[in-house]
Amino acid sequence: MSAVNHQFSEARLAEIAALTKRYPGNRSAVIPVLHMAQEDFGYLSMELQQHVADTLGLRLMQVREVVTFYTMFREQPSGEYRLEVCTNAGCMLNGANELVAHMCETLGIKVGETTPDGLFTLTEVECAGACAGAPVVQVNNVYHEKVTPESMDALITKMRVKE
Ligand code: FES
Repeated sequence: MSAVNHQFSEARLAEIAALTKRYPGNRSAVIPVLHMAQEDFGYLSMELQQHVADTLGLRLMQVREVVTFYTMFREQPSGEYRLEVCTNAGCMLNGANELVAHMCETLGIKVGETTPDGLFTLTEVECAGACAGAPVVQVNNVYHEKVTPESMDALITKMRVKE
């Protein structure tokens, strides 16, 4: 089995070096650098978290405490479409929990799981900052507002057809 190469490219390292100059300490750059890592490699494996720590001259634990605190960071590979449902108060009061239950039934998975065909991963996330559009679902970082079980089903069907 070949090891997955979770190392930043030279271009990325240059970007990170420029970024860290703008902060008083490298620890302040952890969040943007983790976003870069996730964008480049899809998810934050332990090996990649160690690489982020090494790149910034931090201890692994200083990176892990950020990764495990924020729901936007993924430690596992996800499906092609990441369905992230906000279940904070504003969305919950507008049907987010019922929407999640419906999506679990439609997709045949639980929250945190990926469909067997690798297409969809369903997660619950913290406030997406778009409360006026509650309930909100992000699909690969695109916001969908005032989502209903029916509109979600239509969206899922559309995504399946694309494949
Ligand atoms: S509570 Fe859901 S977007 Fe703010």
